[in-house]
Amino acid sequence: AKGALWGARFADGPSTELAALSKSTQFDWQLYPYDIAGSKAHARALAAAGYLTAGEEERMRAALDELRARIDSGAFVALESDEDVHFALERGLVEIAGAELGGKLRAGRSRNDQIATLIRLYLIDHAATISHRVIQLIDAIAAQAEEAGEAAMPGRTHMQHAQPVLLAHHLLAHAWPLVRSLERIRDWRVRASASPYGGGALAGNGFGLDVALVARELGLDRPSENSLDATASRDVVAEFAFITAQLGIDLSRFAEDIIIWATKEFGFIRLHDAYSTGSSIMPQKKNPDIAELARGKAGRLIGNLTGLLATLKGLPLAYNRDLQEDKEPIFDSVTQLEVLLPAFTGMVTTLQFDTARMAELAPAGFSLATDVADWLVRDGVPFREAHEISGALVRFCEANGLELDEPSDEQYASVSARLRGEVRSALTVEGSLAARSSPGGTAPQRVAEQLAQLTHRVRDL
Ligand code: ARG
Repeated sequence: AKGALWGARFADGPSTELAALSKSTQFDWQLYPYDIAGSKAHARALAAAGYLTAGEEERMRAALDELRARIDSGAFVALESDEDVHFALERGLVEIAGAELGGKLRAGRSRNDQIATLIRLYLIDHAATISHRVIQLIDAIAAQAEEAGEAAMPGRTHMQHAQPVLLAHHLLAHAWPLVRSLERIRDWRVRASASPYGGGALAGNGFGLDVALVARELGLDRPSENSLDATASRDVVAEFAFITAQLGIDLSRFAEDIIIWATKEFGFIRLHDAYSTGSSIMPQKKNPDIAELARGKAGRLIGNLTGLLATLKGLPLAYNRDLQEDKEPIFDSVTQLEVLLPAFTGMVTTLQFDTARMAELAPAGFSLATDVADWLVRDGVPFREAHEISGALVRFCEANGLELDEPSDEQYASVSARLRGEVRSALTVEGSLAARSSPGGTAPQRVAEQLAQLTHRVRDL
């Protein structure tokens, strides 16, 4: 059969090979609610411009509602011969409303301005779902931070013991990137809320349609400024793909901590049975699969972004069929994230921390050496010299199998005349934590303030 939307100038219908290549209903079908919403808005604009009578608009809307109901119930489905969702839905509309009325809807619009609008509507909806789920994860992290109270743990740089920090401080360090991703979604939404509808194939429509009315009907803020740009650009899609990739990275970094913490060697956490998996051969295994899937899916989300960017690079104005390739990657990123986030949140909510073990390891690896140097500075020693004295003390302790607070007064003096027994008072984890009281620092008071700040920032979003 010849293509119903564009067959007239062709003597023959598309080859089966072309049809197989061209068909997109297997993935763009999920845009049908947005396609129907777009059609209703367009019908309103056609009526306002005098191209549909009030009665026709009424019947058109009823037919579109009927079409929606038939699709929802599975009574109307895509055929092999339907090139895309727009093509199929026009076929459905004509079936219900008749060719006379159904055939009027396409005036002044094209699949090019349609698809550019529908993908925005789809993403705005799913952005709301994703934001909601990210907020639930932030809440779960905040609840764990609150529960952790003043529990200490080893803070690391280069994976080596560095300085003690509060467990709550470390947990909240995984919440802030998520807050920024939420703020990114909020900012993106402003750019996404321009409506390409009425831009036609590329040049605009010739019927004086009220495109601002269409935008309003669709819940968008305003019509796009340039019809060529509106139908041909997909930076709004690429930016959302970046946001999902960054969220994947946010989760993946937290996941890596969880994977390491769950090892026998660390023994910092226990995963809940309902949020971990076993081995088919090793009966003792309890695996952090959710965290590993988060780490793995981050790669996939990054791939979807880079694939999409490669598709867009060098495309000339205006619409090109290459643009159909934007859908599968962005749909995949959205779907993956929507499945991952609830599982990840469940895992975080049910994590159990071995705070005794974490506290025991907090001062290990000479992680209070900076506090020795800081004590010397407060005693009037320039930091450069204090650093050397503290380093010499670490070397002395390592060679003699002692912790930093274990040498005798004579042994301290043998390392440096500036070192006195009083330094021991500075060598507690509590003292070290309390001393780091700069804004955003790990002192318990500061971490409590940070937690309150986080709650505020998320509430304001
Ligand atoms: N299925 C197409 C897409 O996803 C819709 C626009 C098709 N336009 C066209 N002139 N072939 O981009």
